[in-house]
Amino acid sequence: MSDPETRCLDRDWFYPFRLASGRVTRTYVSAEVAKIHDTRLQMLQAAVQAHFGADASGRSAVDLACHEGWFSQQVSALGFAPVLGLDAREQHVADARLAAQACGAKHSLVFRQQDVHAITAGEHGQFDLVLCLGLIYHLENPVGALRVARALTRAGGLCLVETQVAPGLSGHIDYGHHTFVKPVTGSFAIVDETDETHGPETSTTGICLVPSLDALLWILRKVGFARVELLPVPDDGYEQLRHHKRVMVAAYA
Ligand SMILES: C[S@@+](CC[C@H](N)C(=O)[O-])C[C@H]1O[C@@H](n2cnc3c(N)ncnc32)[C@H](O)[C@@H]1O
Repeated sequence: MSDPETRCLDRDWFYPFRLASGRVTRTYVSAEVAKIHDTRLQMLQAAVQAHFGADASGRSAVDLACHEGWFSQQVSALGFAPVLGLDAREQHVADARLAAQACGAKHSLVFRQQDVHAITAGEHGQFDLVLCLGLIYHLENPVGALRVARALTRAGGLCLVETQVAPGLSGHIDYGHHTFVKPVTGSFAIVDETDETHGPETSTTGICLVPSLDALLWILRKVGFARVELLPVPDDGYEQLRHHKRVMVAAYA
């Protein structure tokens, strides 16, 4: 079998990994779309530095839905250790391990297969930094996943949630009788991925609930985060983030 670097260079990836030799992997997304990774990394680094300072050493991180482990590697490079990357897809876990090896990543970077909905309280302990990037809008139980994210965030820690958001409903609902009226505090859009569950970036069940921004912020507070903040997007950032179709939110425990 060829060496890890050759195996990485022989195929296309979701992310542009800079390998130990300095060579960079080809990506299967266009250069225009690949910009999403740079913008999110820039926003993540700014939020991490604002919360933890320039040196994150001695702090731990978990990357939920780590895919090929690019963000796990980025936070490892910021000094976080250990870093645990979890993804529902076994193939991603194998790829994440291969990429980490070829990049010469630290041994404190560990990848495991696990569905976010299968994570149980106390199983992994708690982390200073919890990443929940590009995941929530592929799930049929986004509230459950946000509860998991909260349970994984140590007191004083930071959870970054990055997601597509849906246009929101507002107004009031007659709740059983016109004299009993409840305000709408947010909403979800249903998106059908049932024919795409084989895709590397998609839902595993096909039923996706995409939150409105109001819903996301409200739920993060309700599952127990003390403070929730919508992060600013760089002026030259990826268009979806600049145009409020996707957001990154910092939730502080
Ligand atoms: C759009 S990709 C985002 C990957 C990465 N977090 C990022 O933001 O670049 C969605 C990822 O979520 C994973 N995923 C989908 N459903 C999941 C679930 N129920 N539990 C854990 N991972 C899941 C997919 O395998 C895929 O790696």
